[in-house]
Amino acid sequence: MDRSALPIGIFDSGMGGLSVLRTALRMLPDERFVFYGDIANAPYGTKTEDEVYRCARAVTGRLMDEGVKALVIACNTATCAAAAQLRDEFPDFIIVGMEPALKLAHDQCPEGRILVLATPVSLASQKYRRLYESYGEHAVSLPCPGLMEFVERGDIDSEELKGYLKEKFGPYLADGQAPSAVVLGCTHYVFLKSTVQSLLPAATRVLDGNEGTVRQLRRRLEQQGLLSAARPAGERFSLGFHLAENAGKADSLARKLLRIPE
Ligand code: DGL
Repeated sequence: MDRSALPIGIFDSGMGGLSVLRTALRMLPDERFVFYGDIANAPYGTKTEDEVYRCARAVTGRLMDEGVKALVIACNTATCAAAAQLRDEFPDFIIVGMEPALKLAHDQCPEGRILVLATPVSLASQKYRRLYESYGEHAVSLPCPGLMEFVERGDIDSEELKGYLKEKFGPYLADGQAPSAVVLGCTHYVFLKSTVQSLLPAATRVLDGNEGTVRQLRRRLEQQGLLSAARPAGERFSLGFHLAENAGKADSLARKLLRIPE
């Protein structure tokens, strides 16, 4: 059997991972994808690490049962809490995760303040602490409980959302040292990029890890001879929100979010 023709599984706690799917559809035009949003268990970012691991393990099993050739954890929170353990359990399987793009911000803006927006679980994790020790010299970590919920409601630019963000940025704009970079360290926040940018000086870079994640996926597939050789026929992706009562509503919101330009 030609495993390269199998789809790639992508998952998140909800809609955020669609920002990674959107990038993957653009960068890997010959691949097919199965997306799973675990909205029945969202948010992940305010649970314990162990609870997040259990959710991520269940979704991983579900996607493996669907016969995917690789898995993308399109969630910084689930990567921080569960990726190492999942890789131990499935050592022969390609599992690509993500972490707040602090290294990218540090490389692009070696001087000047960097603000990292992410969930409480991501920022409290050992994985993030190590990243911060290496690249966090000028960085401030800002936990954003409640922010992913705006995206889950389909709200990417309301006054209420802007009020939330202004409160976060306020202290770092008031002291005359505007940040050089803001890291969107949760895949949900990537859909808020233009709203975030509109609240910051034009020179502040708003960065995320989506392209780097898809490049890493491509490398891993290439190494194992699993890149699909031909554009698949029919739909290039399927969306799943099983177990969720409002799966139908989620499906239409997901399609709307996927159409937002990158
Ligand atoms: N999208 C997820 C991330 O990248 C987290 C959202 C949540 O709290 O569930 O961290």
